[in-house]
Amino acid sequence: MKVVITGDGSPTLVNANGDSYKSLHGARCESTYVFIQAGLQCSIQHGGASEIFEVGFGTGLNALLTAQYANENNLKLNYTTIEAFPLADEWKGLDYGDEDLLSKLHQAEWEEPIAIDDNFSIIKREAQLQTIILPDSRYDVVYYDAFGPRAQPELWSLECFQKLFKAMNKAGVLVTYCVKGDVRRNMIAAGFNVERMAGPPGKRHMLRAIKPL
Ligand SMILES: C[S@@+](CC[C@H](N)C(=O)[O-])C[C@H]1O[C@@H](n2cnc3c(N)ncnc32)[C@H](O)[C@@H]1O
Repeated sequence: MKVVITGDGSPTLVNANGDSYKSLHGARCESTYVFIQAGLQCSIQHGGASEIFEVGFGTGLNALLTAQYANENNLKLNYTTIEAFPLADEWKGLDYGDEDLLSKLHQAEWEEPIAIDDNFSIIKREAQLQTIILPDSRYDVVYYDAFGPRAQPELWSLECFQKLFKAMNKAGVLVTYCVKGDVRRNMIAAGFNVERMAGPPGKRHMLRAIKPL
């Protein structure tokens, strides 16, 4: 595992297989654009968001930006994240500009809700998306941040999207940086309305899938 500095100056990790945890064009830009703006903010504009589900906790950048957003906007957010292969302490080499918050997120116990502050609570679950059992109709926003289909095709299957569809509320928003045709078709087959929208810097497109009313 090594730390690399991405196109916007923010760091990310690259694992032994060469998979990067975030876009090399800009880690922070990608997280902010795809997950916070296209996902969380979209859901807030369409009636509110309080329950977020993330596939792939990884370095904790999405969680960190979401906690900051909750505080800046005085919103109460509950964040459930799953991770099949938790990092040991590789995250300590990442300077995301808020060391204290990043430590709190990584040091939070697994498998139980932990209040990080007045606005943001997290449950980290060590689990695989393929086998985890999720509650029905719980989540308003899904951050789909698995490694890409080339690295992990099993995470982009129809079954995975059907599972998330069931776990989401009506009008719930699922976002991902991935735009592969098969992935889009699997989302549509699972029942989502899918839009291909402009992507973050360095990527032409991204996908946003909405559970119909
Ligand atoms: C692209 S990285 C996530 C980056 C992360 N969201 C962040 O903000 O740093 C993908 C993550 O998915 C995890 N992962 C791999 N297989 C998984 C599975 N079957 N279920 C859930 N997570 C998995 C990886 O270990 C990795 O941490």
